[in-house]
Amino acid sequence: MDLFAGCGGLTLGIAQAAHRHDVSLDVRLAVDFEAAPTKVFKTNFPKANVQEGAVESYFDGDLGASLTPQEAETLSIVGEVGILIGGPPCQGHSNLNNHTRRDDPKNRLYLRMARAAEVLRPRVVVIENVLAVVNDKQQVVSRTIVHLKKLGYDVATSRINLLKLGVAQTRKRHILLAVHRDALPFGFSAADLLQIEDHNSSPHDLRWAIGDLFDVRPKSFFDEAAVPNADSQRRMKYLFENDEYNLPNEHRPECHRGEHNYTSMYGRLWWDRPSQTITSGFATMGRGRFVHPGVPRCLTAHEAARIQGFPDYFKFVDERVKPRYELTRTDVQIIIGNAVPPPLTEALTSNLFDAGVLQAKDDSPQLLEDDYAAAAVDLAC
Ligand SMILES: C[S@@+](CC[C@H](N)C(=O)[O-])C[C@H]1O[C@@H](n2cnc3c(N)ncnc32)[C@H](O)[C@@H]1O
Repeated sequence: MDLFAGCGGLTLGIAQAAHRHDVSLDVRLAVDFEAAPTKVFKTNFPKANVQEGAVESYFDGDLGASLTPQEAETLSIVGEVGILIGGPPCQGHSNLNNHTRRDDPKNRLYLRMARAAEVLRPRVVVIENVLAVVNDKQQVVSRTIVHLKKLGYDVATSRINLLKLGVAQTRKRHILLAVHRDALPFGFSAADLLQIEDHNSSPHDLRWAIGDLFDVRPKSFFDEAAVPNADSQRRMKYLFENDEYNLPNEHRPECHRGEHNYTSMYGRLWWDRPSQTITSGFATMGRGRFVHPGVPRCLTAHEAARIQGFPDYFKFVDERVKPRYELTRTDVQIIIGNAVPPPLTEALTSNLFDAGVLQAKDDSPQLLEDDYAAAAVDLAC
């Protein structure tokens, strides 16, 4: 079950791990309230139950309260869930936002994950977010941990460096892993299972991620860089003619000159280093270091998707329906920028399979039967 599912980056990682462990994946419910990412999710997981809607409308009860009629219905549609995943919106937590935003009501959506766990009682809960989520004024992370522990979960959190998972990008994420004590194999803790960073591997650079896309012939806007405006063209020309990677102050807009910490803005990427964090601004020079290392243009959607760790078989644009694509260039940029790199859940779920926390349905014991009986009694009351 994937909440705040976007295009399905978290689910894709699980699907990849399941495939490697010869287990089929059954996506009982994936929910996002935006139409565009929902379409991409459906295209890539045609058998999944993907719904466009608000997560709060599926889980509308208070923490600790009896199931609401809507939650009982959600439970009856979904049934037994092995793993509940979600990346609630995180703008309010981001360090790029000012401090008042740490009190953003959107941050409370994090707690919907705790409520969903209370309703569904999955074996495993995974919540992904920005590192700054721990600074939230509502203390959503600690409240979620307390609640999950009350529900019988062993809980661990970690700051995961995606570079150490083979993603060619300097991106770190806050991950909460909760494993129900009944599903924890002897001798394991959630903290053990959350050890996923590979400290021995050398990081992948940009050449590794996108070197082969350098002169690909575009079939759609997916492989075509956005056309820069005249100012950006002039700035890119400067970078290339002077073999520079950072734009000097005098070439920046007036308001970006003087003392600033925005060296990477208007910058050019390096072939032999990982990319900076990909955001939905990857097609615009003034929104980060997004100029291609070898040609005066910003990244294409295909390049950004690769840097986010998506394989080429994952379709963001249906190129067969040219010239009227279902999604716009902006839709695709937002979807890719919002996505979670699949290698994250691939590594984590592999650990869960290897430890026996998750198994193919046929040989999994019915550990959660009692919980369903309890939920039914709850409802009857
Ligand atoms: C960070 S993105 C999720 C990325 C996704 N987990 C992935 O792996 O690709 C957050 C998503 O939450 C969705 N969203 C925000 N608030 C929502 C809500 N109240 N109900 C449903 N979806 C919501 C947004 O549309 C966005 O696609």
